[in-house]
Amino acid sequence: MIDTLKRADLLSMRQFGRVELEVFFDRVAMVARRSREESLRSLDGRILVSAFYQNSTRTRLSHESAMLRLGGRVAGFADPASTRAGDHFQESLGDIATMLSNYGDVIVLRHPQTGAAESFAAHANVPVINAGDGWGEHPTQALTDLYTVREHCGRLDGTTWILSGDLRMRTMRSVLLGLRHYGCTVLLAHPDDMSPDPALIEEVRASGCTVERISSIAEGLPRADAVYMEPVVQPDYGVGRHLAEADKPSTPAAYRVDRAMLEAEARPELLVLHSLPRLDELSLDVDATAHNGYWREAANAVHIRMALLEEILGG
Ligand code: CP
Repeated sequence: MIDTLKRADLLSMRQFGRVELEVFFDRVAMVARRSREESLRSLDGRILVSAFYQNSTRTRLSHESAMLRLGGRVAGFADPASTRAGDHFQESLGDIATMLSNYGDVIVLRHPQTGAAESFAAHANVPVINAGDGWGEHPTQALTDLYTVREHCGRLDGTTWILSGDLRMRTMRSVLLGLRHYGCTVLLAHPDDMSPDPALIEEVRASGCTVERISSIAEGLPRADAVYMEPVVQPDYGVGRHLAEADKPSTPAAYRVDRAMLEAEARPELLVLHSLPRLDELSLDVDATAHNGYWREAANAVHIRMALLEEILGG
């Protein structure tokens, strides 16, 4: 068990050092091997509350699936408009955290405001898992990304990653915080106005990683173990992707991946990751290739959350 996670919130990848990550990933592998029957006895009677103030396909349902697979139960909301936060009262985050603490043993929160998970956790008296807070962090996604590459390559140490798209996104912040521990080479492919936080990049360099900017994904492909993609076509991550179809500009070629370029430039073992949903930056023709790591992430995501719930709740 990881002492720092027991009965604790998971708000940031900063809570994981290298030792904690390695122990956790071994634990995830064990959960993945365990029989369905054995898992079902793990958190029997425990309740997960999901509080999603922002849309989600994967993060909410994989947490809920994980709890159900551990024998627990789930309650919650997927749309704040159905709660008193969404009506005349605009019920505060703090009051809702206080209330929900009585309804379950752990709360999974997604919110459009950066820092909301920390504020919520300050009022809750059960553990809170940050399922994405504005431009802040998305630690359970980063754990899934790192685990998937570790499983595929057999290691994270010294691996070379291309991070592409809007590198201000919470997924990118969290994965960079994880990569700090593995002496990686990180190649950044992004438009000028979508640079990662410079202080974070300095921190990643100071940890022993090599960080370079590249002009396109293609430039880095021949030496990469993984390409982790995010869209660049995104007006404001704080409110979601509401551009009408007709208004969506297409992604510049520098930030796109398709099967032909992978066949021409990539090493056979290269894995493509994407937190999803995708737009036109990731071609559908990559799905049927051995480079497809994003469907593998969907399976791993449930095991990650099962292991995390057990660490927090003591399964
Ligand atoms: N990966 C991810 O965060 O997806 P959702 O927005 O669908 O939860």
